[in-house]
Amino acid sequence: MPTLETTVDGITFPNPFLIGSGPPGTNQKVIKKAFQEGWGGVIAKTVSLDASKVTNVAPRYGKLTGENKKEVFGWENIELIATTSFEDWLDDFRACKDAYPDRPLIASIMEEHSRDAWAEVVGRCEEAGVDGFELNFSCPHGLPERKMGAAMGENPDLVEEVTGWVMAAASTPVWAKMTPNVTRIEDPSRAALSAGAHGVSVINTIRSIIGVDLKSLRPMPTVEGHTTPGGYSSVAVKPIALRMVMECRRLIDADFGGRSISGIGGIETGHDAAEFILLGADTVQVCTGVMKKGYRMIGPMLEELLGFMDQHGFETLDDFKGHAVPYVTTHAELVRLQAEAQDRKRARVAEEMALKEKAKAQEELIAAGKEAVVRDENWDEDAFVEQSDELAGG
Ligand SMILES: Cc1cc2nc3c(=O)[nH]c(=O)nc-3n(C[C@H](O)[C@H](O)[C@H](O)COP(=O)(O)O)c2cc1C
Repeated sequence: MPTLETTVDGITFPNPFLIGSGPPGTNQKVIKKAFQEGWGGVIAKTVSLDASKVTNVAPRYGKLTGENKKEVFGWENIELIATTSFEDWLDDFRACKDAYPDRPLIASIMEEHSRDAWAEVVGRCEEAGVDGFELNFSCPHGLPERKMGAAMGENPDLVEEVTGWVMAAASTPVWAKMTPNVTRIEDPSRAALSAGAHGVSVINTIRSIIGVDLKSLRPMPTVEGHTTPGGYSSVAVKPIALRMVMECRRLIDADFGGRSISGIGGIETGHDAAEFILLGADTVQVCTGVMKKGYRMIGPMLEELLGFMDQHGFETLDDFKGHAVPYVTTHAELVRLQAEAQDRKRARVAEEMALKEKAKAQEELIAAGKEAVVRDENWDEDAFVEQSDELAGG
């Protein structure tokens, strides 16, 4: 029987499905619900020292749907980090750890460019019992005026500096959450890993505008007639996330052996998770999926991933982690491989045709009573040369 239990950076997760930072992990009630339904861990909603500076708007979500308007492919949010005070969050962390001591609870943290602020958040969260940290270097819309989130994560020098501060303060594992709003995800990832991060979480949302209302002619989600570019998530972003996970896996295998990846972006099924793991993820996170389908989606996801492993004879996640990575290559290499395959096919066809021709010639000889000589009486005075040639292999 395969097992989904996995130990990553010293933390043991009963399964690799984690709640991604956002509304599904935004207070102790919902975090406990996630544990109760069987999620392998929770990354709580991002916290900072001073929640009074955080003000959300409504509406703050927008959906991209299919023709029937029911199926949701894409989801934009312009939501900020947690509005709950840091002190209340510490109480929530304690309450969750008291109720579910064995379930990994990871604090997502974000701060301004201040070593003391980051160190304080880390120290107080650890005192409250969290099992590790995810550094939010990646929220695309919130608080760029305070140089927080993606404003920090788009700059590898800042990522390296701040990760270094956190590593000096933390005694639990640290994952740096990457923004996809960069040309090369390897650059900020390398910066975080160079500073000592145990792993990277890939990806946060993609900067977007979900649409324009054709009646009001205003961009959406519309707040007092205006909008701001937000973060795009859900199934539409999965191919981009898969590509970036693969790139981070290559980076880690080349230069940072043993570090981990938490894959995020559009995951809604066990098969989605299998794809992320095949491209190098150690764990996977789900955020928008839970907002669409509810916490109970974990049941079918677990079954589906186990079913996939059973089908292939995999006992553990490590048995197939990164298995698909070597098969991603350059376009030039695809052309070379295809030319090689075509050459092999041509050679096979030519060989088959030669064999067919030989058989045909043989048939003709037999038809003419001049079959290959196996007995002396078969030698024919008119076909003597052909018969000799035939016996010499044509
Ligand atoms: C409404 C909403 C709020 C989010 N808030 C946070 C957050 O506070 N911190 C964070 O790191 N990521 C946040 N995210 C990003 C998700 O954790 C995740 O990286 C992203 O949505 C892609 O995964 P998904 O397609 O499973 O949602 C938020 C996403 C949504 C949809």
